[in-house]
Amino acid sequence: TDRYAVVGNPIAHSKSPLIHAEFARQTNQDMAYAAMLAPLEDFAGTVKKFQAEGGKGLNVTVPFKQEAWKLATLLTDRARLAEAVNTLKFEPDGTILGDNTDGAGLTRDIRENLAISLAGKRVLLMGAGGAARGVLLPLLLQKPERLIIANRTPKKAIELERHFAAYGRVEGGDYARLAGSLFDIVINATSSSLSNALPPLPQGVFAPGALAYDMMYGKGLTPFLQFARDNGAAQMADGLGMLVEQAAESFFLWRGVRPQTLSVMSLLKSC
Ligand code: ATR
Repeated sequence: TDRYAVVGNPIAHSKSPLIHAEFARQTNQDMAYAAMLAPLEDFAGTVKKFQAEGGKGLNVTVPFKQEAWKLATLLTDRARLAEAVNTLKFEPDGTILGDNTDGAGLTRDIRENLAISLAGKRVLLMGAGGAARGVLLPLLLQKPERLIIANRTPKKAIELERHFAAYGRVEGGDYARLAGSLFDIVINATSSSLSNALPPLPQGVFAPGALAYDMMYGKGLTPFLQFARDNGAAQMADGLGMLVEQAAESFFLWRGVRPQTLSVMSLLKSC
């Protein structure tokens, strides 16, 4: 039985063990997947111990994604640019491969589950913290017509613009400059929903048929999704699909098999 786990602090609330158990059952993989609490001051020690005991891979969550990025000895492009790792794979030769499947999870949820193409679309990404950074490369690789990053602290959005400029048409700035622009897809990558707050989005930015996507999940209709509904967005989605799709992408990296995600999304909605 190959051993995997999700490591974070706190970790008790994580849905990853349920998701991966379901993937393993579905695809007949002989594996176990646990939740592991790491002390805040010893993430690296916790990981090394798991690896030494024969563990095959880890998912990494708050607040260790940057530390995991530093610990990896080999990085995928998307993890290198995100400067954050949510998936570690321990190779037989000792290599610690670091990947970031968050952006692939987001784009796959939008494309496959919501059946909306990102190609040629006007996309607004709100937020310039770790969550936004983690999804930028996969978003740009979908070739949106333009991708605007808006942040309360515009400097951070402009830094992201510079960091990702080589990969597509991306512009960073504040929220005020959005007035008068229309977007087909508006993604909330801020942590505003955690505090039941709303980013300072001007009215009238939702194009006809627009999708509003909140990367947060389990919060019902967040203030952002309510605002979107009241301001003409045609479709609202929370981050549950992204959660399951990023897990599927990790599972694929580890096991080489792609699990079905829709049944797992339904399972999570019902519990
Ligand atoms: P995460 O890892 O979730 O991205 P983070 O790196 O602390 O967390 O970033 C939080 C993001 O949410 C930032 O972009 C932050 O904006 P600032 O950079 O200006 O602080 C944004 N954010 C948090 N609360 C917000 C609110 N009420 N309105 C708008 N943006 C908010």
